[in-house]
Amino acid sequence: MVKIAVLGYGTVGSGVVKVIDDNHEEVKNSAGEEVEVKYILDLRDFPGDKHEAQVVHDIEVILNDPEIKVICETMGGIEPAFTFEKRALESGKSVCTSNKELVAAHGPELVELAAKNNVSYLFEASVGGGIPEIRALNDSLKHEKIDSIMGILNGTTNYILTKMEKEGAGFATVLKRAQEKGYAERNPEADIEGYDACRKIAILASLMSGEYVHYEDIYTEGITKITIEDFEYAAKLDMTIKLLGMCKKNDDRFFAIVAPFLVPKDNILASVNNVFNAITVHGNMLGDVMFYGKGAGKEATASAVVADVVDIVRHMDKHICINMNGKKAQLTAKDNAVRQFLVRVSANEADDAKELFGTNITEIENNLGEFAFITDLISEKHFEEKKNTLKTVKGYIRVL
Ligand code: HSE
Repeated sequence: MVKIAVLGYGTVGSGVVKVIDDNHEEVKNSAGEEVEVKYILDLRDFPGDKHEAQVVHDIEVILNDPEIKVICETMGGIEPAFTFEKRALESGKSVCTSNKELVAAHGPELVELAAKNNVSYLFEASVGGGIPEIRALNDSLKHEKIDSIMGILNGTTNYILTKMEKEGAGFATVLKRAQEKGYAERNPEADIEGYDACRKIAILASLMSGEYVHYEDIYTEGITKITIEDFEYAAKLDMTIKLLGMCKKNDDRFFAIVAPFLVPKDNILASVNNVFNAITVHGNMLGDVMFYGKGAGKEATASAVVADVVDIVRHMDKHICINMNGKKAQLTAKDNAVRQFLVRVSANEADDAKELFGTNITEIENNLGEFAFITDLISEKHFEEKKNTLKTVKGYIRVL
């Protein structure tokens, strides 16, 4: 029997305990031995809870217990989670976590610490909730030359964009509804400004490069400027709008971005709706593969944490190698990326816009009293320069 501890008895932590309770036999069969939750660390007591006897308030109880072989950190945030994880690894305990903030900020250092102590550091649940894309990248796709990872990595913003498109409701109205339904946090900044998706693509980009992609180096735009009118244009173009995180490698260039994109309806990502996430990966031999599923939620995210527990138990006393090290990856600036853009300016600036962007633009008819067009292919740098000379830009969106 393997005894584990769960740090944090919130949504994901209680989900981990539930998965181990409800799927006890399945977990035992896949791990090769029984898995028991010996401790649950939380500041609170849980009187009446089936597991109230396992609740402890002092991390030392867990760190000093040689019976504990695996720690599931589901507290979130940087501290004290970072200190607890480091001390666990140094004590010869493997760690698995759903904590994307911590993995994005210190993942490579924790992977290296795990290797040094011949234990494992796994973080399947940190990206895409229950979707098993990290294990696939780290295992089934390890022999591939991956040159692109792209996806819808945030459920809250995908829910908001889906409702805006399908119901014609404005951003603020849908955000309020998402908060009432409990999808969006009371402080939704990390989701709607793209920071959450940025941390997730930073983790995937690190796995893709084998180095450390720092999330602060990734150009990030959220969805707060997207309007109903943008969706009207998208519909005319047979497209929709999705917040995408992507990292791409060609020749020596390695580039990552998070931003809303116009996505053609025949692209598979266009049909990923509501709180679902999807991640497409392109390998040089495999071609495209896509992972789709619940990117958030108690059971789904907990299922991914338990998958890591199972992996660790199956590889007990070994370090599971993760393709990530502390060397900082060199990202190229977004300036050289070439793409098309939808641009909206006031009707009275149409001539200036035509002169700036040339004859290869495609105008889009509208009854909004504005001039809207799709640019020819243009580099991010040149687009930015031209856009900044226009005085009445009402919005712009990249085209996938
Ligand atoms: N706030 C995140 C989302 C939760 O909406 O996707 C899962 O990481």
